[in-house]
Amino acid sequence: MYGMVNKSVQELVTINFGVDKWEAIKKKAGVTVEAFISNESYPDAMTYGLIGAATEVLGMSADEILFAFGEFWVLNTARKDYGDLLSSAGRNMPEFLDYLPTFHTRVALIFPHLKPPRFETSDRQDDRITMHYFSHRPGLSVFVRGLFSGVAKLYDTPAQITQTKFKDKGADHDEFLVCWGDAIKKQ
Ligand code: HEM
Repeated sequence: MYGMVNKSVQELVTINFGVDKWEAIKKKAGVTVEAFISNESYPDAMTYGLIGAATEVLGMSADEILFAFGEFWVLNTARKDYGDLLSSAGRNMPEFLDYLPTFHTRVALIFPHLKPPRFETSDRQDDRITMHYFSHRPGLSVFVRGLFSGVAKLYDTPAQITQTKFKDKGADHDEFLVCWGDAIKKQ
């Protein structure tokens, strides 16, 4: 994955737990890179290794870290470093979710070696949408739930995000129901 992803993990850890914890995580993961370069590619195994080491050093579960990283990615990294790109994708949360299937095509204009996730939408109503997530990368569904939660917070829209299909339990992809407005009360 591009260095910006590892860099964002680094920021999440240093802001919330301090630089010593980050150094300990890097050491445990066997990562010797001094400073990640945002637009350079690094092996996916390095990112997975850092997340794995973070669970041990911080005493948190992988799910807790992946969810927090999803929110952090949207609310800190994307908002701070790619704000224009992010805000051009929708004026509100429903518009952003409608647009998500094509979003990474635009990201790929800046990062040509991107191996993006694939999103599809269905059952769009005034107060809900079903989001389908496809990836060749395993184990990231909780990260995606954190990303959706971050998008909801970005637009100040109270939302309920429920995973309704699980690839790691045999479904052919992960599926999420995102509800807002009246649909939250009806659940
Ligand atoms: C300006 C905002 C964003 C940028 C610049 C961006 C960029 C990236 C980059 C560089 C990667 C790593 C893939 C690679 O290096 O090959 C990635 C992965 C990913 N992105 Fe985005 N992204 C943004 C917003 C979002 C949002 C809002 C979502 C979903 C709500 C999302 C979902 C994902 C997922 C799930 C992955 C993991 C890759 C996979 O599943 O295979 N991204 N993105």
